[in-house]
Amino acid sequence: MKKGELLYRGKAKSVYRTDVPQELVVEFRDDITAFDGGKKANLAEKGMLNARVSAFFFTLLEKAKIRTHYLGMIDPATMRVRTLTMIPLEVIVRNVAAGSLVKRYPFREGQPLDPPILVIDYKDDARHDPMINDEIILALGLVTAAELQEIKQKALSVNRVLGDHLQGKGITLVDFKLEFGKDGLGNVTVGDEISMDSMRLWDARSGQSMDKDVYRFDKGDVMEAYRRVAERITGNAGGRSR
Ligand SMILES: Nc1ncnc2c1ncn2[C@@H]1O[C@H](COP(=O)(O)OP(=O)(O)O)[C@@H](O)[C@H]1O
Ligand SMILES: [Mg+2]
Repeated sequence: MKKGELLYRGKAKSVYRTDVPQELVVEFRDDITAFDGGKKANLAEKGMLNARVSAFFFTLLEKAKIRTHYLGMIDPATMRVRTLTMIPLEVIVRNVAAGSLVKRYPFREGQPLDPPILVIDYKDDARHDPMINDEIILALGLVTAAELQEIKQKALSVNRVLGDHLQGKGITLVDFKLEFGKDGLGNVTVGDEISMDSMRLWDARSGQSMDKDVYRFDKGDVMEAYRRVAERITGNAGGRSR
């Protein structure tokens, strides 16, 4: 497996071609951003921890027969993945009211949402990722109606698998974001990452944040929080993390 040309450098990850067209390499960088890129930092070992947690969750999803892009690790911060044509949607599942939901609508922070709320944003930094709906998605031709139903159903299945695992570790899965893509055969596949940058995780007892909110709202030592939650999720303290 050869790491080839840089295909895309995003806010927190870099995607490279390989010697096989069906496979890419994703490097989880130490960059962290918030508020539409308005707040930025570089935190040593953050990429490695997010890569480890993502790999763990992708493996858990594969065991539950949910197709992901994950193929394996090359080094602690670098993942082999299936090449996907990404669908520009951020598929968000919310189990507890927090963040933009509380800011925009009259929910109380911490209010349980049962059944979970599924929200879809249009992934477009220049447009600030506006919330989108089924009609707009179909009118834009982003996916077919059948694919949209499949995406929603898969997001809710992912929610159950992640939520069950996290609950067993004393962690509340408040909300998370998924990105889907299609492989060469058109299979709807979970891509991107499932990490502390893309989830809201609260300690079930204390309610303390253990995710990017620690960075967004200066709630404490970000890397200390990331290290602790990664260890709780994966049961792995990691080589360089102790
Ligand atoms: N399997 C994949 N195939 C192709 N592109 C992918 C795959 N998984 C994730 N991506 C894309 O790679 C980029 C990851 O980098 P990231 O720093 O998260 O970017 P962004 O700033 O756009 O969110 C994202 O644009 C994401 O949609
Ligand atoms: Mg991203």
